[in-house]
Amino acid sequence: MTIVHRVLPPHPVETFDDYLAVRGGRGIEAARAAVPADVIAELEASGLRGRGGAGFPTGRKWRTVAANCSVDNPATVVVNAAEGEPGTMKDRTLLRMNPYEILEGALIAAVVVGADAVVIALKESFRTETARVQSAMDAIRAAGWADGITMSIYPGPSEYLYGEETALLESLDGRAPFPRIAPPFRRGVDEVVETPGDITSGSGLSAHVEMADASHTAAAPTLVDNVETMANVPRIVWRGADWFRTEGTQESPGTMVCTVTGAVQHAGVGEFPMGTPLREVIETVGGGMRPGRTLTAILPGVSSPVITADQLDAPLSYEGLAAIGSGLGSAGFIVYDDTFDAVAVAAGASRFLAVESCGQCTPCKQDGLIISDRLQSLAAVDDTRVDLQQDMVEIGRRLDSVITGARCSLATQHQVVVASLIAAFPEAFDAHVAGTATPHEPELIAELVDVRDGKGEFDATFRTKQPDWTHGDHDSGASPVDRFTDHRVNRFTDS
Ligand SMILES: Cc1cc2nc3c(=O)[nH]c(=O)nc-3n(C[C@H](O)[C@H](O)[C@H](O)COP(=O)(O)O)c2cc1C
Ligand code: SF4
Repeated sequence: MTIVHRVLPPHPVETFDDYLAVRGGRGIEAARAAVPADVIAELEASGLRGRGGAGFPTGRKWRTVAANCSVDNPATVVVNAAEGEPGTMKDRTLLRMNPYEILEGALIAAVVVGADAVVIALKESFRTETARVQSAMDAIRAAGWADGITMSIYPGPSEYLYGEETALLESLDGRAPFPRIAPPFRRGVDEVVETPGDITSGSGLSAHVEMADASHTAAAPTLVDNVETMANVPRIVWRGADWFRTEGTQESPGTMVCTVTGAVQHAGVGEFPMGTPLREVIETVGGGMRPGRTLTAILPGVSSPVITADQLDAPLSYEGLAAIGSGLGSAGFIVYDDTFDAVAVAAGASRFLAVESCGQCTPCKQDGLIISDRLQSLAAVDDTRVDLQQDMVEIGRRLDSVITGARCSLATQHQVVVASLIAAFPEAFDAHVAGTATPHEPELIAELVDVRDGKGEFDATFRTKQPDWTHGDHDSGASPVDRFTDHRVNRFTDS
């Protein structure tokens, strides 16, 4: 039993006074008294890596933003609270349990990179978390911690891509959540370069947003960090890098807040030292498998390859899960037992990624939809299809091409998740091709609405979400990018 409570307390921190009682405020106090470069050096020494999925070194990101600050405009700090990875509920749990620590981390970031604004970017549908953050913000403002820094909440759209940080910045600027072209970092809020091309085409697409570099200093950079990343900051600042490294591994110091759902006894969220065997995470949070069933596979969301039963001793860490060919991602683990159908899971993951694709890169949307469609036929053992073997060939071909020219990593996710299921469970795919398998609908793979009373509730409304991001029975055939061509002037809505 290795549950720890560094950022996820055992009970909710209900009031600001409760937070002060557990030594809240020491981080911001230390940061305001220190030289910013020293705080960044401590963060770098701690080895903290971003908990939003990519594991990028947080200190290095802060150093880059601070070094590229604008002479004219202060930077902005954005907390990525968009949480939409299927099977992940950790950020909302942290926001509910202790919003004060996340806000304190964000204020420290603002002090260190010279920002005058902190934005908590969550989804409009996250009502409980919004209320918690709002009341924490009020108390923190009243205590004077935020003097000179404005704090606000941005209620964003429901789309998965809204969590991708450049799409999130697009959304903050009032446009659709379409990813920008990826440089190491980019200019942020309120920074769109008008070009004649934009005006004549009427598009103003995200490709035209200026990228940050040292040669242009008028626009300020924006620092985007995940909720859990920010929650770790205050204690690193006041207790130091060495303390932070007393948990975890050399390459993955600290802890990770994990979500376990699926075929376990009870779904839940728990914090573990990095390096804990994955088996222990699943057993401790999930309480083991349902009676008579055995664990067969774990899907770590839709961003990393499937994990099989023989890989459960892998350590929960960036390097540990990479070594078994998967990834830590945001540590959301959907558990499947021996009744699972790998083809139905592949069809569900593929449908999620194909529908959520924005269509800025044609292969990502078009090939993605073909993969999803073929997998759905295969899962259903659709005997109106002439040749299911041919469908498998087509799936393989499209998995090669889906990543062509991809602007963000969603297309690669599609490729690796589906390919990993085909590689790990070939007999399941063979049985569907041969028509001997039991027909299945695609498994529902979607955002978690909540994890409550030991149950993970996946968003059932996703079943009617169409590839053009409308809800209903009809697929218009359009891509989201075609529907929101005038999003420069019209605020995006997902209705
Ligand atoms: C399709 C997609 C969805 C993402 N969704 C989220 C999300 O919901 N929350 C999040 O923090 N990061 C998400 N990310 C990662 C962010 O782009 C970014 O790496 C992260 O916010 C950086 O913060 P960190 O360094 O603290 O992890 C997503 C990335 C992709 C490609
Ligand atoms: S890779 Fe896919 S989701 Fe990402 S920007 Fe291109 S079309 Fe959109």
